[in-house]
Amino acid sequence: MARTVDWDEGDGPDRAAAVLAIDQRALPGEYRVRRLASVDTLIDAIADLTIRGAPALGATGALGVALAARRHPGDPDTVRAEAERVAAVRPTAVNLRRGVERALARLDDGADAVVAEACAVLDEDEATNRRLGTRAADVLTALGPDCPLRLLTHCNAGALATVTWGTALGAVRELAERGRVAEVLACETRPLLQGARLTVWELREMGVAHRLLVDGAAASAMARGLVDAVVVGADRIAANGDVANKIGTYALACAAAQHGVPVVVVAPEATVDRTTASGADIVIEERAADEVRGFAGVVTAPPDTPVYNPAFDVTPAALLAAVVTEGSTFRGGAWAGEKALSR
Ligand code: MRU
Repeated sequence: MARTVDWDEGDGPDRAAAVLAIDQRALPGEYRVRRLASVDTLIDAIADLTIRGAPALGATGALGVALAARRHPGDPDTVRAEAERVAAVRPTAVNLRRGVERALARLDDGADAVVAEACAVLDEDEATNRRLGTRAADVLTALGPDCPLRLLTHCNAGALATVTWGTALGAVRELAERGRVAEVLACETRPLLQGARLTVWELREMGVAHRLLVDGAAASAMARGLVDAVVVGADRIAANGDVANKIGTYALACAAAQHGVPVVVVAPEATVDRTTASGADIVIEERAADEVRGFAGVVTAPPDTPVYNPAFDVTPAALLAAVVTEGSTFRGGAWAGEKALSR
């Protein structure tokens, strides 16, 4: 599989620089790559979830600044204004603004430096994900029974949610390579079905045994003893270990606490926001009502039905067995590890 997002320098006025993105709206039916040649199309692609997942959004934020810098050489004010528009598209995943700010920090050095910084974000992603996946696999192995694990996941925290490899699914990849995965239960993840459409597609590509379940079946799977651990990604992790992730994660954590099932969150350091004290301070994106009133053009509720559609929820740290990044672990109310020292 190609990178989820990538940079294409182009080769002249007829084919200018652009961001390449796997179109995640089209999967699993069709695998296609979009060429996003303007900041406006990039912003639309973030808003309509062509590109989604916190680390992928971080890389896209940096690439958006690169695109603006190429389009407006010698006009830093316009580049900064375009960068702010990109950063503001989705408020919950801190990675997006982080990626924008990282690329923007090189603006005084010229467009080439901005592009190089954005490409560095892409290049670092796989190594980071492999490191955090290995650390999370160790934690899951220690928490679970001494046999191949039955894992439950929500939304998509795989290669498609990053530049490549994945976070929670990166840990699953690592465990599968160690022969330590019996099965992954993938929640379909209403309303937009990132679990059914994307996680299942990735698990098939990985050759990992899996079953798809409706979100409402997860608690009963735990009650029946079918789940050794829940493993998910994150969109923002507060300083106190509270975690914002796809809507439904909190309900999973409540059910997991009831049944003694550990919940492990796997994310890069770039998702940890030490300026946010607790989950109560995290802005939760609300999305369009029509996402809930139907799917893929099929209407499933009376028109104009009032809707509550938060894209994310916050799981309190107390419900989590561990939050694992590439350099630190939050467990039992405190951060530990090499990266924790710099926090
Ligand atoms: O709305 P989405 O699809 O961008 O939400 C994505 C999630 O909630 C993921 O679980 C999270 O970004 C972690 S991805 C490694």
